[in-house]
Amino acid sequence: MRFHILTLFPEMVMNGLLTSITGRAVKQNKIAIEATNIRDYTLDKHAKVDDYPYGGGAGMLMQAQPVYDAYQSVADRIPEDAKKRVVYVTPQGTPFTQQMAQDFAACDDLILLCGHYEGIDERVLEEVVTDYVSIGDYVLTGGELASMVIVDAVARLVPDVLNNDQSAETESFHGNLLEYPQYSRPEVWHDKKVPQVLLSGNQKKINEWRLEQSVIRTQERRPDLYAKYEELQDSVNKGIGFSGFTDPFRIQVVGTFVDPFGIQNHIDHLAYGHGKKPGDSDMMQQDSMEPMHGIRQGKEDFPGTHHDAHELIVGNKDKSTE
Ligand code: ADE
Repeated sequence: MRFHILTLFPEMVMNGLLTSITGRAVKQNKIAIEATNIRDYTLDKHAKVDDYPYGGGAGMLMQAQPVYDAYQSVADRIPEDAKKRVVYVTPQGTPFTQQMAQDFAACDDLILLCGHYEGIDERVLEEVVTDYVSIGDYVLTGGELASMVIVDAVARLVPDVLNNDQSAETESFHGNLLEYPQYSRPEVWHDKKVPQVLLSGNQKKINEWRLEQSVIRTQERRPDLYAKYEELQDSVNKGIGFSGFTDPFRIQVVGTFVDPFGIQNHIDHLAYGHGKKPGDSDMMQQDSMEPMHGIRQGKEDFPGTHHDAHELIVGNKDKSTE
């Protein structure tokens, strides 16, 4: 995936993004990031890129011409058949979410346009922008930090940018629950002990505890997110969106559903959703269930589906077609 940032401060975004995980991903050619200086495209002999707004008002506006020409210089290098979006980062945009990051990650080319001063002449925005995105209800001095946030959140979803351990984090957020508290060595620090259950070696109990903690944390810190979690749990429990077994080793669920902590939750929900309990004779036996072999999710994997779809591949590995 290629990221193209149109900005008056290319060194600011490149210094940030060529550091740490995104920087490593660039080095390993998993992603490409380039910043184009809008000022390089001005036709003004003093290299001016801004002017007063018609109708008066405070501040200056970025002019259409340099923005458009900078955009064209990037767009001309993007293949015709590439999947491309052009994002203008602005506090007037749609709030950025993990779902949006996932949608953007399906692009081949993501162009991010950073404004400065009081904004950009509306006419060029009308011509080039496909998405208006805000990173929160506050006003930054420019779009650079917002673009960096978006590049970071999208890049980590590109295959192989994160290692397997790290990528699990996305799934837990995707389930509309915040992550549970985590502890590392030593077992006692400042007289505080690591919760006993985490030392028990009983994975089922650990999963239950983590789910409980996630629920408590989400209720306390993000009641809005928790309401979504409950709504989804409800629909899964009622079987809404459960499309049945596509074959005995694949379970397909249409609609978003919750998988914060592993296959067992899925299977319980799916079983109940199907009007059966785990252990029913024509239901796959919970106890004999092999670990999950894979999960596919998203609209892309399921042509003709308008919702997110998730397919769990469980059971006998030999018979799963994954
Ligand atoms: N530019 C300035 N403030 C912004 C914000 N909150 N989100 C996106 N772009 C911005």
